Amino acid sequence: MKRFLILLLVFSSATAFAGEGMWLPQLLKLLNESEMKSMGMKMSADDIYSINKGSLKDAVVHFGGFCTSEVISPQGLLLTNHHCGYGEIQSHSSVEHNYIKNGFWAKNLSEELSNPGLTATFIDYIEDVTSLVLAGVDAEKNLEDRQKIVDKNLSMVKKNYKLESYQDVIIRPFFDGNQYFAFVTTTFRDVRLVGAPPESIGKFGSDTDNWVWPRHTGDFSLFRIYADKNNKPADYSPDNVPYTPKHYLPISLDGVEEGDFTLVFGFPGRTNEYLPSYAVDQIVTSLNPAKIEIREKSLKIMDTYMRKDEKIKIKYAAKYASIANYWKKWIGESTGLQKTNAVQKKQLFEEEFTKRLKKDSPYKDILPSMEKLYNDINKYALARDVYSEIVMRNVDLTGFMFSFKRLLDAYQNNGDSGYQEYLSRLKGSIPDFYKDLDVKIDQEKLSALLDIYVKTVDPDFVPDFLQRENLGMASDEPYDEMVKNLYIGSSFSDENATMKLLSLSPSEAVSAVKSDPLYAFIIGWNDIFVQKISNPYNDIKRKLDELQSNYTNAQMEVFKEKRFYPDANSTMRVTYGQVEGYQPRDAVEYEPNTYLDGVMEKYIPNDYEFDVSERMKTLYQNKDFGPYADKNGKLPICFLGSNHTTGGNSGSPAIDAYGNLIGLNFDRVWEGTMSDINYDRSICRNIMVDARYILWVIDKYAGAGNLVKEMKLVHPKKNKYPSCK
Ligand code: ARG
Ligand code: GLU
Repeated sequence: MKRFLILLLVFSSATAFAGEGMWLPQLLKLLNESEMKSMGMKMSADDIYSINKGSLKDAVVHFGGFCTSEVISPQGLLLTNHHCGYGEIQSHSSVEHNYIKNGFWAKNLSEELSNPGLTATFIDYIEDVTSLVLAGVDAEKNLEDRQKIVDKNLSMVKKNYKLESYQDVIIRPFFDGNQYFAFVTTTFRDVRLVGAPPESIGKFGSDTDNWVWPRHTGDFSLFRIYADKNNKPADYSPDNVPYTPKHYLPISLDGVEEGDFTLVFGFPGRTNEYLPSYAVDQIVTSLNPAKIEIREKSLKIMDTYMRKDEKIKIKYAAKYASIANYWKKWIGESTGLQKTNAVQKKQLFEEEFTKRLKKDSPYKDILPSMEKLYNDINKYALARDVYSEIVMRNVDLTGFMFSFKRLLDAYQNNGDSGYQEYLSRLKGSIPDFYKDLDVKIDQEKLSALLDIYVKTVDPDFVPDFLQRENLGMASDEPYDEMVKNLYIGSSFSDENATMKLLSLSPSEAVSAVKSDPLYAFIIGWNDIFVQKISNPYNDIKRKLDELQSNYTNAQMEVFKEKRFYPDANSTMRVTYGQVEGYQPRDAVEYEPNTYLDGVMEKYIPNDYEFDVSERMKTLYQNKDFGPYADKNGKLPICFLGSNHTTGGNSGSPAIDAYGNLIGLNFDRVWEGTMSDINYDRSICRNIMVDARYILWVIDKYAGAGNLVKEMKLVHPKKNKYPSCK
């Protein structure tokens, strides 16, 4: 029995099932096409990725570098998630024009809103450049020398690409540095907001429902790519025109049923599937709990103020959502890893790995060395996460101090001219920063989080000026008073005072910054951080990275029967599976589709997460669903699939067997978020908004039928024949 269990566990972590895997689109033909067809796909790998003809990849767009989006009309109309466009929706909102609350719909092109800095990037083609990048590397044993050669090769390979001014080439390591691929891209810089539903639809269920099934969120928004008169990328200009794409996705009105083939195409950010058990154990027992505790505190503080004051709610909406998102994800991830015995599975896998090695294998020492280094790195890794969560992520003024540090560095290195140059950039970011800052909240956060820092990290990492006995404080006294004085004494707690400081002469401003108490506090803390935490961390991490690179390579050599896919690294990937529910716990079975009835079930009048508008209620009562209802006359909202996705896949198109859009990826189920570290076929599911709900909201709810007219709606199931091109 035990032997059987071991084999089963080893097998499940060593074999990629359909569902698991984030595959490179140009390799589908070689690795996946036949399996995809056996699962019901009617297209060829060539319809998905081709450099000779328009293919699906030409409709899949990296949105701002952090989300995915897709072209859904011949006029460059772009679909992505509401939470991906949230920063833009928020920045155009005010108490008078509250687009977060009420939604926004441009009635014509002239009402579409520009978004400085927002980009849309297409992949022109992908090439394997491994042999060029690793040329001459094998002989080099020493890690630093090896990196030098790789860096030199990389810059040479890059230089050899003949690119247009709007193109770029991005070369990324795969399989922890064992392979390299080059992505030639075209980036558009004029991307305008076209439409967004009110948050009662786009963010329905908000943080309570985030990462959770059953789900009822219409998490979408619409943008448009603009190009110059030659259809090429250009900076924003009123003369720009809607972009004409190489391909855009037709949208299926026929909906989805359990078992239907699904493909999700996008830009997944980061996964770590090939870590050893020690690393996974560290995440579950040490790193995740600390980060969760910090964010929990920070969220509680924001929430208290946001509930009381609408202005603060708008100011902090995007910050709150983004901090809450990973807070909850880490909780789900740890739960899932524990529930599926991920550490134990990895251990069994490692036993099998070790057993298969020949006596004189060069891989013999990898795992024992990694075990030792993971032990060594633990206290540094923990302190590093805790410090960065506090200083760079949860408290705003602390991270902002580093902009002033860079100003001082510019002055020191390049005198007045260096100072002026950096200052002009810095000044531009100041209004945005203060627009979303509330000093009370910030101060309260710093004080509460200092407390967590001191009790969590190794005592040696607590600077003298934070030791309570040095400050004459009782052993559990809060840092409130100390932090309050820092904020009162600092110019940076006030936008005008900051601008005034920056209007001084360079030398005066530099000394004013240096003597600012908050600045001095943060930079002093940072010095200790660099010296005692991040330097030793980096030394160990470098060695671990080298071992990980060997270990990943060794896994591929030792488990020849397994089909390997590279970890996500924000490059374009395809994942495929099917529409499928799951069993989250004993006796509980989740179905894969939700309907508008579920929205009404969750409805809580005037609640900030579960309110439903009058208009929605009327449309529901009248069953006014137009052509968007399913065959039982119900309006579909979301569905589940067994596609392997991660952060960055937000906004990715869910595509049917023929190449039509059927949904929009926006989340995963809570228990399954551990798929970033260990995919488990039984509980890893992605969550998509049904395309028919998106169309209904645009057409029926918002009355923006003009937008639907731009799109191509198809009936692949009814017609038995597709559509695709
Ligand atoms: N969990 C999804 C993602 O990772 C949705 C996030 C939306 N944010 C939120 N706090 N509801 O991006
Ligand atoms: N919401 C995520 C994103 O922003 C996708 C969900 C996930 O992590 O799978 O990319």
